[in-house]
Amino acid sequence: MLPELVRDHTVHAIYHNTPLFLPPCGFTVADIREGSALASIFSQFQPELVIHLAGITAVSHALAITEGDVKAINVTASGILAKLSQEYSAKIIYTSTDLVYSGDEGGMVKEEGKLNPLSLYASTKLEGETAVRGATDDYLILRLALMYGFSNGKVKSFFQEAYNKVKSGQKVVLFEDQYRSSLSVLDAAGMMKKLVTTEQNYKLLNFGSGERTSRAQLLPVLSKKPDLMKVFSKFAH
Ligand SMILES: NC(=O)c1ccc[n+]([C@@H]2O[C@H](COP(=O)([O-])OP(=O)(O)OC[C@H]3O[C@@H](n4cnc5c(N)ncnc54)[C@H](OP(=O)(O)O)[C@@H]3O)[C@@H](O)[C@H]2O)c1
Repeated sequence: MLPELVRDHTVHAIYHNTPLFLPPCGFTVADIREGSALASIFSQFQPELVIHLAGITAVSHALAITEGDVKAINVTASGILAKLSQEYSAKIIYTSTDLVYSGDEGGMVKEEGKLNPLSLYASTKLEGETAVRGATDDYLILRLALMYGFSNGKVKSFFQEAYNKVKSGQKVVLFEDQYRSSLSVLDAAGMMKKLVTTEQNYKLLNFGSGERTSRAQLLPVLSKKPDLMKVFSKFAH
């Protein structure tokens, strides 16, 4: 998505530790907990749209920092970003997770489904949603499904780790009793681009696919999609 957005728009990225943005995309290194740094970036670049993807997502990553840090990043900083977006009349897209749902209903869950986040990650993402809603009226919350694909970031997705283990002949232990909608990062990028570049007034969307799989089912399902695996293997490392 980024190369196409950079081609058609002025894009300025913020990153923390891992530089993932290639020129001609401008970037600033910042910690989103630092409100004054964010205020200065907003004042300099006056964004029309803010896509907020930052967060503490992985348990192994979360273990290296305190619960307070997870809340500061997933909740408080999301509220600060939303408040700044409101001040600059910019829409904010906040990426939440489908793990906020209880899933008790079974089947595919709609946006109005029962909520019951069971982990620190899921509960802070839900609190982040509330912080965004409290700070601005011009927002879109996306509850992202289980994503599969490869990442250049510091945190590798479960899919990437499982893929690498299978490739090197190691065993992988996966949930078989938790069902989620699974979404390819390539499809997600296309969907995100459409949301960003077309007029729409959604406030809350489940951002997933029609595929309902457990993690244990996902790898075998993908082995039946050789074209997709061919594309992915270019990014594998
Ligand atoms: N991938 C999925 O399956 C999935 C599913 C549901 C929801 N989501 C949501 O989608 C978003 C993106 O997910 P992802 O898979 O790309 O996550 P990720 O790989 O863990 O990336 C999270 C990003 O947040 C940045 N970050 C963390 N603390 C920061 C701070 N204090 N200041 C600035 N940046 C900070 C990290 O930068 P550094 O590494 O440089 O610290 C990293 O680039 C997240 O909000 C996540 O909750 C993802």
